[in-house]
Amino acid sequence: PQKRELLYEGKAKKVYATDDPELLIVSYKDDATAFNGLKKGTIVGKGVINNRMSDLLMARLEREGIPTHLVRELNDRDTLVKRVAIVPLEVIVRNIAAGSFSKRYGVAEGAVFYRPTLEFSYKNDELGDPLLNDDHVLALGLASPEEVAVIRRYALEVNRLLREIWKQCGVTLVDFKLEFGRLPDGTIILADEISPDTCRLWDSQTGDKLDKDRFRRDLGGVEAAYRQVMGRLNQQL
Ligand code: C5P
Repeated sequence: PQKRELLYEGKAKKVYATDDPELLIVSYKDDATAFNGLKKGTIVGKGVINNRMSDLLMARLEREGIPTHLVRELNDRDTLVKRVAIVPLEVIVRNIAAGSFSKRYGVAEGAVFYRPTLEFSYKNDELGDPLLNDDHVLALGLASPEEVAVIRRYALEVNRLLREIWKQCGVTLVDFKLEFGRLPDGTIILADEISPDTCRLWDSQTGDKLDKDRFRRDLGGVEAAYRQVMGRLNQQL
């Protein structure tokens, strides 16, 4: 498959059409942004790592019964995926308090939840991705009740599977963001990416942050952290 016209350029990825109307090529960049685009930078080698990691994890999830957009990896930075209409929700699963949860509710980072916490936000940069409850999702017509139920079930199952994979790597999966899409027949599948850009990953022994928070919070060692988690996953999968 060949890249045709550039359909969309996001913060971390470009999306190209192909000759097949049902398939797209996603191309991962080294660009990094945080705080809704306010902070910008480059994480050298990130695109290669995120492409690889996302494909490895999606292939594993697919084998475990979660439908995903993955078709196949084309090269270091490019992956062939099924074309979907993205459901404009950021689906966030949290196992441990951190980030916006800690800030919003005044809870110390690191507090372990009794059970996973699922939240939706409206994928809308102008509005700053506001938090939504299930009724808001329906009121705004972002997804049907049946779709919300399927998304919720997949997201919690993905959490169960990813937690186990990362545990074997000596990494604690703190939280992560998923996006889902609709195939032309309406089927809901997992889309977007799963990477240190979209997950909080803490070293299980030391608690060291091995994800994009190193960039967001100017902790240094960003590239090394991405290489560290990628290396551990390669050993494990
Ligand atoms: O910032 P917050 O605590 O809500 O983030 C929760 C999780 O979702 C983190 O793992 C973060 O990396 C991810 N996230 C994301 N894209 C966003 C917002 C959050 O990948 N726009």
